[in-house]
Amino acid sequence: MDPVAFHVASRPAHGEGEGELTVHHPYDGRAVGRTTLATAGQVEAAVAAAAGVAAAVAALPAHARAAALDHVSRRLAERAEEFARLITAENGKPLKWARAEVGRAVSTFRWAAEEARRFSGELQRLDTDPAATGRIALVRRVPKGPVLGIAPFNFPLNLVAHKVAPAIAVGAPIIVKPAPATPLSALLLGELLAETDLPEGAFSVLPLPNERAAQLVADPRLPVVSFTGSGPVGAAIRRSVPEKHVTLELGGNAAAVICEDWNTAEDLTFAAHRVATFANYQAGQSCIAVQRVYVHEWLYDAFLPRLVAAVQELRVGDPSDPLTDVGPLISADAARRVEAWVDEAVTAGATIELGGRRDGATYPPTVLSGVPADAKVCAEEIFGPVLVVARVAHDQAAFAAVNDSAYGLQAGVFTHRLDTAFAAHRALEVGGVIVGDVPSYRADQMPYGGVKGSGVGREGVRSAMEDYTEPRVMVLTGLSL
Ligand code: SIN
Repeated sequence: MDPVAFHVASRPAHGEGEGELTVHHPYDGRAVGRTTLATAGQVEAAVAAAAGVAAAVAALPAHARAAALDHVSRRLAERAEEFARLITAENGKPLKWARAEVGRAVSTFRWAAEEARRFSGELQRLDTDPAATGRIALVRRVPKGPVLGIAPFNFPLNLVAHKVAPAIAVGAPIIVKPAPATPLSALLLGELLAETDLPEGAFSVLPLPNERAAQLVADPRLPVVSFTGSGPVGAAIRRSVPEKHVTLELGGNAAAVICEDWNTAEDLTFAAHRVATFANYQAGQSCIAVQRVYVHEWLYDAFLPRLVAAVQELRVGDPSDPLTDVGPLISADAARRVEAWVDEAVTAGATIELGGRRDGATYPPTVLSGVPADAKVCAEEIFGPVLVVARVAHDQAAFAAVNDSAYGLQAGVFTHRLDTAFAAHRALEVGGVIVGDVPSYRADQMPYGGVKGSGVGREGVRSAMEDYTEPRVMVLTGLSL
């Protein structure tokens, strides 16, 4: 198996002497690809090129930025099945979810192309004061500078797209460090970026072990750091570079609420299926997978059997089978940690309503009830196919339970009532409330991010474009307005 090339300053490269990354299929452990690690010289070349070309990239006309983004979107669509199979191979994500991820990446780049075309700034009247008669301000947003994007393993393509596409849209060079467990999709994306007419140095994709990311984070030539990953690493990044603009997309223990009015048999069956699916999609390895569900006490006894039945229907197994719903976690170690947290909850008094035994990296979809609120499976991010279901006295108590968390990314509120939807939106300390569905819904153009331990700043194409830029005002004087 030949090593896959990465890109340094837009050119294909291989590292020498720093070692290799061999990527293993989480389901059966077979090697599915390898790449070399970037050398210190290549890292320096990537950063120097990004800094050197920043002014030229910022000066690109909107049509050139949009054309590059449209090209990548189109090529992703053309090679969708190849990307999907690569995601499944390196991440263990079931093929149906890998295909969905590629579809989203196509849309992320397409949205970025559209936003690049309309990112125009703002005209502000200044003649609101007699002293400023004849004055007007043009407020344009200019790139802060080259962006460092550090991506996680759970969406090896689309969460890389969320770093890269907004950077190109605003005219900022970008250096991506993919997750060491899943670099292959990002490397293939690098091939598509290399097909564009972006100036040399506008992008680099550098396979590096996590220990070597600190050097890039600290580099003053990369004033923006966009990180998606674990809370402790995010906090360490923020502490280490307080002078930089740091966006953190961290974890969550997302909750769904089944409100009092969501009470017909049809309602409960629908919610049970949505919760079952999105507690277990990609084996729960999404920051907005449903981890907790709070059910109004009048509905609990009707909801629980429906939920257990819906979870039982999920097909667990080989992620390459298009019918598989739940595949392995990223590694056997990750599955062992999930197993330990479930065992700990059971020791603390939880009941396993459904669940089974770990098999290598695969942990079966598990439903727990009677879980103490401070058990890790409830209070921490499980990042596994485990759902905690709890009974609450009323809707407000459910909202309080959702907020009783160190995190606040998204919440799902099953209600038909507009007043309850607004009450939830007011009360819940999260970045997004999804009404009538699970917290796991995300459209790629939407602002996405959290409060409390879930992060700082927002992704979503337009939000990230604002994040990567700063306003620059031009005041025009002596005008007849
Ligand atoms: C995440 O895990 O934070 C990303 C979720 C998504 O993009 O759907």
